[in-house]
Amino acid sequence: MPQRRGALPISDAEVVNCPDTYARGVPYDCLDRLRTRTPVVWLDGRFADEPGSWAVLRYTDVRRALSRPELFTPVPWESLHGPRPDPPDADAESTAMLIDMDPPARALLGRVRRTGADLVTDVLHEMPETLRNTVAGGVHALLRNPDQYAKLRAGHGDEALIDSAVEEMLRWWTPVTQIRRLVRRDTTMGGVPLLAGEQIALWLTAANHDADVYTQPGRFLPERFTADTPRHLAFGHGVRGCLGGVLARVHLRAMLAAILERPGRLEPAGEPVLTRSTARRGFDRLPVRWRDD
Ligand code: HEM
Repeated sequence: MPQRRGALPISDAEVVNCPDTYARGVPYDCLDRLRTRTPVVWLDGRFADEPGSWAVLRYTDVRRALSRPELFTPVPWESLHGPRPDPPDADAESTAMLIDMDPPARALLGRVRRTGADLVTDVLHEMPETLRNTVAGGVHALLRNPDQYAKLRAGHGDEALIDSAVEEMLRWWTPVTQIRRLVRRDTTMGGVPLLAGEQIALWLTAANHDADVYTQPGRFLPERFTADTPRHLAFGHGVRGCLGGVLARVHLRAMLAAILERPGRLEPAGEPVLTRSTARRGFDRLPVRWRDD
């Protein structure tokens, strides 16, 4: 059938590579098709204004690449955690928040009023970007899945459930979409020859939603993580994996516990605005309010 002028089909690779896409949500359908057909695929980076790279989409390939730092080395200019938050003012509690292993989660949650607040700019603004995005992504998961939220509220004393829910929030949301590596010498991956000097982009988002590893990967299932569940890759993996993972988990756990313990519940107070980025997944705005039961 002839194409109408100006209506050329857009390929899955182009959709995945375009920051505008992510302002509407992660294109899991495109990532799934690519992962199945061409699990290592060239993305030219032109829409995101980035150098071209081989996108690695399967969990096993991403994990294997992260386990071989001598072959795939980090690119020195990559910034994963976003800009530093503004220096704190006289509010000593907020200083504590960045480094404290006993975060002031209840005080933060207290900023969510019955009349509403923006989780990003009013409540979590002092947090480093990756942490803020994960808390916001986790809250979004609760709001989008009221049945799971209710189950968590009923089981909030269950330590194993809360630990699993934190891991599921990290997997389901995956705030660092992709991390880059430089190929040190010629090799192959997924049947594709990779040349020394080329870049690969390890798509953590695609790996953490790989149906060969996680059943129903698109569903937010707080009880998913048991001792046998493969570890998600939201913090990377191996010797270059996230050094702040322990601290991040402490903060996420404290925030989730505070949400579940406070009488009443969170509810949406407006449309969320997603961040336009192929690299980091988060919100520009996430309006919420507190509702007493
Ligand atoms: C939920 C929150 C966070 C997420 C999802 C996250 C994710 C990541 C990822 C994906 C990497 C890259 C691993 C790699 O390249 O193989 C990384 C590295 C790192 N992260 Fe985090 N991170 C988080 C919070 C933090 C915090 C709170 C700190 C500091 C207290 C931190 C410190 C670091 C450091 C020092 C590195 C190593 C950087 C390097 O190798 O150059 N992260 N993180």
